[in-house]
Amino acid sequence: MSRFPFPLRFSIPVILLLFGSVLGLVSFQREVSRSNTRTEQEISQEAKFSASQTSGLLEYQYRHADGKGAELTISQIGTAPNIRLALLYDENNRVIFSTRFELRNRLIKDTPASNQLSLIEKVRQTRSGKIILSEDEQTLMAIYPVVLGSLSRDILPSRVGVLFLEYNLADLKAQAYRNAWERSLVYSATLALLCTVLWLFFYKTLTLRVAQLVLASNSLAQGNLNVRVNLQGSDELAKISNAFDRMAEEIQNNTEELHKKQKQLKQALYSLKETQSQLIQAEKMSSLGQMVAGIAHEINNPVNFIHGNLNYVEEYTQDLLSLVHLYQEHYPNASLKIAEQAEEIDLKFMIEDFPKLLTSMKVGTERICEIVTSLRNFSRFDESDLKNVDIHEGIDSTLLILQHRLKDTLNSPSIEIIKEYGHLPKVECYAGQLNQVFMNIISNGIDALLELKGNKIREIRIRTEVKDSDWVRVAIADNGPGITPEVQPRIFDPFFTTKPVGSGTGLGLSISYQIIVEKHGGRLSCISAIGKGTTFLIEIPVGLKS
Ligand SMILES: Nc1ncnc2c1ncn2[C@@H]1O[C@H](COP(=O)(O)OP(=O)(O)OP(=O)(O)O)[C@@H](O)[C@H]1O
Ligand SMILES: [Mg+2]
Repeated sequence: MSRFPFPLRFSIPVILLLFGSVLGLVSFQREVSRSNTRTEQEISQEAKFSASQTSGLLEYQYRHADGKGAELTISQIGTAPNIRLALLYDENNRVIFSTRFELRNRLIKDTPASNQLSLIEKVRQTRSGKIILSEDEQTLMAIYPVVLGSLSRDILPSRVGVLFLEYNLADLKAQAYRNAWERSLVYSATLALLCTVLWLFFYKTLTLRVAQLVLASNSLAQGNLNVRVNLQGSDELAKISNAFDRMAEEIQNNTEELHKKQKQLKQALYSLKETQSQLIQAEKMSSLGQMVAGIAHEINNPVNFIHGNLNYVEEYTQDLLSLVHLYQEHYPNASLKIAEQAEEIDLKFMIEDFPKLLTSMKVGTERICEIVTSLRNFSRFDESDLKNVDIHEGIDSTLLILQHRLKDTLNSPSIEIIKEYGHLPKVECYAGQLNQVFMNIISNGIDALLELKGNKIREIRIRTEVKDSDWVRVAIADNGPGITPEVQPRIFDPFFTTKPVGSGTGLGLSISYQIIVEKHGGRLSCISAIGKGTTFLIEIPVGLKS
C-alpha cells in the first residue's frame, strides 16, 4: 500500500482495538451457541435415558396390574430437576396420570401435547420413542410408547399408551448464557491485556522509533544539521536510522565545507572589490590631487612674482606721483601740449584712483595666494605620512574645491554652508586622505540637495567638536531627501550607488569608511530620515599613534 492516510500512533491502537472487539464478539457468540448445543445434547441424553427407563418400568407395572406403582412412577419422575411436566396417555390419548393433577382424564387436545398429536400417533405405531425440540428451542419433549396391556387374542399388544415428558430448557439456557458471558468476559479481559501488551510492544519498537525518525527528518529538512536518530538494534528501523545518521553526517560535513568555501570566496571577492575600489579611487584622487597640486604650483610662481612686485609698484607710483606734484608746484603754467595731455588722461582722477587700484590689486593677489595655499593644502600631495593638522583647514580647502557646485544655477538654487566649528586641537592623521573623506561626504550632500524640488532652503551644516577629550567629531548634515531604510544598510558597500550610470561609481563612502575605520581607527556612521536629511558622523582619535 503506497498511500496510508493515518499515522501509526493512531492506526496501530485502532487496529488492535477493532481486532480485539471482533475477536471478543465472535468468541462470545460461539460460546453461547456451543453452550446451547451442549445443554440441548445433555438434556436430550437425559431425556432418552429417563424416558426409556420410565416407559420400561411403567410397562412392567402395568403387566403386573400395579396401577398405584405406575402413578408413583409418574409423580416421582415429575420431581426430576428439569422436568416441567410428565403425562401418561392411554391408547385413546386420554391422560391417565399426570404430574399436574388438573390434567387427569383430559383428552390430549386439552393438554400441552395437543400440537404433537401426529407424532404421538407415529410413536404409537412404530413403537419407538422420539425426542423433539420446540420451535422456540426452549422446551425439549420426550415421547415414548408404553405397552399398557393386551387382549389374549392379540398378536401385538393392542393397548399402547404414550409417556410424554416435557423438559424446561429456558432456565438451563439462561444459566448457560450467563456462564458463556462470564467466560467471554475473562477471555476478553485476557485479550485486552494481550492487545495492550502488543500495543506497548509496537509502540516501543515501531511507533516511537518511527516518530523519532520523522522528527529527525523534519528537523534536518528545516536546516538543523546536528540532528541524529541513533536507534539501537539490528532491525530494519535501526538500519534506516543508521543510514539516516550517516547521511546527516555527510550533509553536515559537506555543508560546513561549502560554507567554508563560500566564506573564503566571499572574502576573496570582498578583498578583490576593495582593492579594485581602492585602485579606482586612488587613481581618481591622485589625478585630482596631482592636477590641483600642479595648478597651485604653476600659479604660485607668477602670483608671488606679481604680489612681491606690487610693493615696488606702489612705492614707484608714490614717487612718480610726488614728482608730478612737484612739477605742478614749480611749473603752475604748463605748456598747452602738457595741459591738453593732462586733460585728456584726466590726471586729477588718475592721481586719486591709482592708489585705490593698487590696493585692490594687492587684495586680489592676496586672495589668489590664499586659494593657492588652500589648493596645496587640499592635495597634500607631498604628505603621505601622519601629520598634526588643523581639521578646519582641510574642510575649508575641500569647500573651496567644491565652491562651484554650491552656487545657484539655472536648475537649482544655491546651497548654503553653515559652519559650526568648535575648538579643535591639531589632529594626528593622514591629511590628504581625510580631505578625501570630507570631499566624498560633502559631494554626496550636494548631490542629494540637487535632487530636491521646490524652493526649500538647501543647506549643509558642518559641526566640529571634541568628544570625550581625546576624540574629534565632525558632523556633516544636509537637509536633502534622506536615505530609505532599504538603502541605508548598503551605502558603505563598494560599488553600491543609486545614482545614474556614469554619474556615480558607488565608491565614495566605502573608501571613506576604510580611511576612517581602518586607517584612523575611528568610526563612520550615518543617521538619516526620509524628507528631513542625512547626517554623517566622522569620529577619529586625536592622537592616532597613541
Ligand atoms: N547625503 C546623502 N543623501 C542621500 N543619499 C546619500 C547620501 N550620501 C550617500 N547617499 C547614498 O549612498 C550611495 C552611496 O554613496 P557613495 O558615495 O558610496 O557612492 P556614489 O555617491 O553613488 O558614487 P561616487 O561617490 O563613487 O561617485 C549613494 O548612491 C546614495 O544613494
Ligand atoms: Mg559619493
